[in-house]
Amino acid sequence: MNLILLGPPGAGKGTQAQEIAKKRGLVQLSTGEMLRSAAKAGTKDGLEAEALMAKGELVPDDVVVKIISERIEQPDCAGGFILDGFPRTLMQAAALDRMLAEKGNKLDAVIELKADFNRLVERIVGRYACAKCGQGYHDRFKRPKVRGVCDVCGSTEFSRRSDDNAETVTTRMMAYYRDTSPLIGYYFCKQTLRSVDGMASIGEVATSIDNVIAGLSR
Ligand code: AP5
Ligand code: MG
Ligand code: ZN
Repeated sequence: MNLILLGPPGAGKGTQAQEIAKKRGLVQLSTGEMLRSAAKAGTKDGLEAEALMAKGELVPDDVVVKIISERIEQPDCAGGFILDGFPRTLMQAAALDRMLAEKGNKLDAVIELKADFNRLVERIVGRYACAKCGQGYHDRFKRPKVRGVCDVCGSTEFSRRSDDNAETVTTRMMAYYRDTSPLIGYYFCKQTLRSVDGMASIGEVATSIDNVIAGLSR
């Protein structure tokens, strides 16, 4: 099964993708995470991307398309994947269509997390993640079971994203509405779009997504 999670910054793409991937044995493909790793590794593309990400602007299409096309070729993706943060422009969506068609593969659903702009800033500025395994948390909405200890790996080190500040968030939101929201119409026309309420609790959103996935196999 190949899925896309679509939604603005803070809508819950990463949170839900992490869970679905675990539960269904799919590979989570987050272009944001891949770009942050490339920046950390100091590659040329990574460093260029880092400057744009810090401002909240999109990284050029050719850079992300190259990253995703190489990653999708890896054998672990043959069993299905869930795209989190890609595609983000119509050009990226067209490139994905070509990549899948070349492999005789297809998308099963594009799940839109419908979100309320005014509540996303709180989600984003309260977000942090385990520095060792990447498990995501939130100051209010998703705390570790034992304070200061990662539920998954037991690490006590956490980190926050440098683009998770109120100023950059506004630019990221603008980029979403300008460049990414047209994809809602694109996938609606292709009849792959399914929408769920992204402002419900994490568990309720997960249940809505499960229901969408259950409906696909019928
Ligand atoms: P990326 O890393 O993809 O960031 P984003 O799209 O801004 O999305 P976020 O990761 O901020 O939000 P999310 O939807 O994953 O929310 P999360 O689940 O963490 O991209 C970063 C940058 O990389 C971009 O700005 C761009 O520069 C570049 N980039 C990446 N891909 C690109 C592409 N394809 N093309 C060009 N450039 C690209 O949830 C947020 C917080 O809320 C968490 O703390 C979570 O615990 C909490 N939360 C989640 N769900 C709920 C809920 N239902 N109720 C309460 N709290 C919740
Ligand atoms: Mg994310
Ligand atoms: Zn951890």
